[in-house]
Amino acid sequence: MIILAIESSCDETSAAIMENGVLRSHLIATQAIHTQYGGVVPEFASRAHEENIVPVVQETLKQANLQLSDIQAIAFTQGPGLLGALLVGTSYAKSLAWALKVPLIAVNHLKAHVLAHFIEDEKPTCPFLCLTVSGGHTQIVLVHTPTKMQIIGQTQDDAVGEAFDKAAKLLGLPYPGGRWIDHHAKNGNPNAYQFPTTPQPDLNFSFSGIKTSFLYFLQKQIKANPQFVEVNLPDICASYQQALVSMLLHKVKLAAKQHHIKQIAIAGGVSANSALRSQLLDLGVAKGWKTFIPKFEYCTDNAAMIAMSAHFKYLEQDFEGLSTEAAPRLSF
Ligand code: KG4
Ligand code: ZN
Repeated sequence: MIILAIESSCDETSAAIMENGVLRSHLIATQAIHTQYGGVVPEFASRAHEENIVPVVQETLKQANLQLSDIQAIAFTQGPGLLGALLVGTSYAKSLAWALKVPLIAVNHLKAHVLAHFIEDEKPTCPFLCLTVSGGHTQIVLVHTPTKMQIIGQTQDDAVGEAFDKAAKLLGLPYPGGRWIDHHAKNGNPNAYQFPTTPQPDLNFSFSGIKTSFLYFLQKQIKANPQFVEVNLPDICASYQQALVSMLLHKVKLAAKQHHIKQIAIAGGVSANSALRSQLLDLGVAKGWKTFIPKFEYCTDNAAMIAMSAHFKYLEQDFEGLSTEAAPRLSF
């Protein structure tokens, strides 16, 4: 079973080919244009997808040494994401499925982030917990089977990726700023400054409070010393990052305890964060958990995870009609 998968939900145009659950080729075209605007500009994202999608698919086929006629199913990200961006991938996938007369498989982007763990050789066994942390979402997912999962905790306001990116913007770092905070934090003291990590009830998160307190903290410090950021950047990044990572791991511990689960995974763009990765690893050793940390290329948006999800949907013959639509607010 050879599946071609397309991902175009935000600012990465990506294609992947999977054969019987094994990745054969995978390509991501990152859109650099957004950096100068300090955030993803939806219209530019759609235009860049339009420009990239055909060459990305052609190159992915070439790398797998396959022809379009070898493809037996087409998968695409249906949502959630930016409407204009999703429309490019959806329309392209529908046209290809129609032309090739092969089944069409619609994939939920957030479930795909979780299933990215099945691409790698060491796969989790169900049930397991996955902390999905991205620019738009923060969720703890209880995975019963690859096609049956449930959100048991989520953010009530901002996503943790947003908390990283907004703070980075205030510090004058490039967009997306999460990885720059991570980068500068490597040389800083995580205990230099304290930020309030107000706990939410249950397994839910809230990041709007810490984001605002970071803004007030900076304003106050800069007023006293205009060079404050310049001089203390590593300590600021390390302390703020530590507060966010602590908030995430606190809820992961709680979820694992409540659900008696000892297999813990992380997914999504923020799972590339080095402090989160190393502290989850340490926590796993301390708690006797088996932890699953994806390769960097499977953390951020990619079509390999879309292909992986499609593989499981194919096994259940869960196909979509050609009148299906992009769904920017697709529910879980
Ligand atoms: O999953 P993703 O690629 O796209 C969405 O679906 O949102 O996640 C993007 C998010 C951005 O907020 C970005 O700043 C963050 O992931 N990110 C990081 C790191 N690398 C990417 N955040 C913290 N540390 C990193 N190393
Ligand atoms: Zn994503």
